[in-house]
Amino acid sequence: MVVVVVCGGGNGAHTLAGVAASRPNTEVRVLTLFADEAERWTKAMESSDFVTNIHNHDKSITKLTNKPRLVTKDPGKAAIGAEIIILAVPAFVHAQYLEALKPHVTPGTILVGLPGQPGFEFDVYTIWGPLASKCSIMAFESLPWACRIAEFGQCVEILGTKESLVGAVHIGSVPSKFDPTLLLQGCLGPHPSLLTKGHLLGITLMSVNSYIHSSILYGRWHDWNGTPLDEAPLFYQGIDQDTADLMSGMSDEILVIAKEIMKKNPKVDLHNVDHVLQWYLRVYEDDIQDKSNLYTAIRSNEAYIGLTHPMSKTEDGKYLPNFKHRYLSEDIPYGLAVSKGVAEVVGVNTPLIDKVLIWCQEKLGKEYLVDGKMIGKDVTFTRCPQRYSMTTVDAILGK
Ligand code: NAI
Repeated sequence: MVVVVVCGGGNGAHTLAGVAASRPNTEVRVLTLFADEAERWTKAMESSDFVTNIHNHDKSITKLTNKPRLVTKDPGKAAIGAEIIILAVPAFVHAQYLEALKPHVTPGTILVGLPGQPGFEFDVYTIWGPLASKCSIMAFESLPWACRIAEFGQCVEILGTKESLVGAVHIGSVPSKFDPTLLLQGCLGPHPSLLTKGHLLGITLMSVNSYIHSSILYGRWHDWNGTPLDEAPLFYQGIDQDTADLMSGMSDEILVIAKEIMKKNPKVDLHNVDHVLQWYLRVYEDDIQDKSNLYTAIRSNEAYIGLTHPMSKTEDGKYLPNFKHRYLSEDIPYGLAVSKGVAEVVGVNTPLIDKVLIWCQEKLGKEYLVDGKMIGKDVTFTRCPQRYSMTTVDAILGK
């Protein structure tokens, strides 16, 4: 029997709990530290199955009814004897789980960020200290599914399952009982197919949302005159050529960071860092109608049909951009600021990232980049290396 700990109480945690509990020889325990989620989830399952509805391509639904063995807020009860611990929560909650789990984790355990999100490994190295190097650490670029809780603690809907999911593994000095990738694949079933390659830092740098979302917001609103709009503009499919060029340029800057690190550290593999166009062609292969270039790929991506800018409504029914949305509030401190911080440590200039970051931080009312350095007062609320006093390339590589 493999013991799997799922951390969190949201959409991803519900889905992972239901899917993994349905796999053979797998005991699933859920650890949720938030509010009264553990009690509510436990109570909800007393009188009902725990249902995971998988919506298949052919419109059929596969229904799984296996329950996690335990839902608890006690990290000791959850972690004892665990082979693998999977964090399936938003990035800003990772530190809380790592702190809570640390006294209960034994060397050789596998830790997974699903998704990892930028700077995941910096949180792990810093909070777990020497324990981190004795564990195997994995990070993935996203969740395996598009999923939503239908009924808390009782039913979750898997709206779509990715074909493949890219991640990276750092093998710890104390071997785990099982191969990390195979073990996680066993928890998920055949899909998505897990593709683990390269260094964990590659997953941090490859977090495309941090510059896709910020470049689109910048492109649409940086010269906006403040007049409310009659309707919300299309987010992805409304981009112009300048925005696509900006996004592409920011992606090029990320590639330069990766290349510079590999030049200084030939044994470090960051080939898992791709240009954003390559990422689009991989992830949305079947949805993109015109694959000529980044601009046409985004505008013709059918997965984006109808998605609009985050807006708030005025009393007279007009629309204003919502700059408090997670595209800024999460994708900057747990995204673009991390890339900029890594660039600073590596010594790579990033004029386009700087320009967008400065605009975004102003919209958020935060201060990260000051006079070209990540020294602003709000750096402590990001996952950029400077927040952890990591000043060398070795430190960000976890050496
Ligand atoms: P979610 O929004 O459902 O997560 C909410 C959960 O996070 C809560 O139930 C609670 O357990 C925890 N939480 C929230 N605020 C907290 C706080 N202040 N303190 C402690 N715990 C708190 O997130 P979801 O949908 O499960 O997504 C997890 C990650 O996966 C996110 O980074 C999301 O962007 C990403 N993702 C989600 C997809 C989806 O379809 N749900 C698809 C692709 C990526």
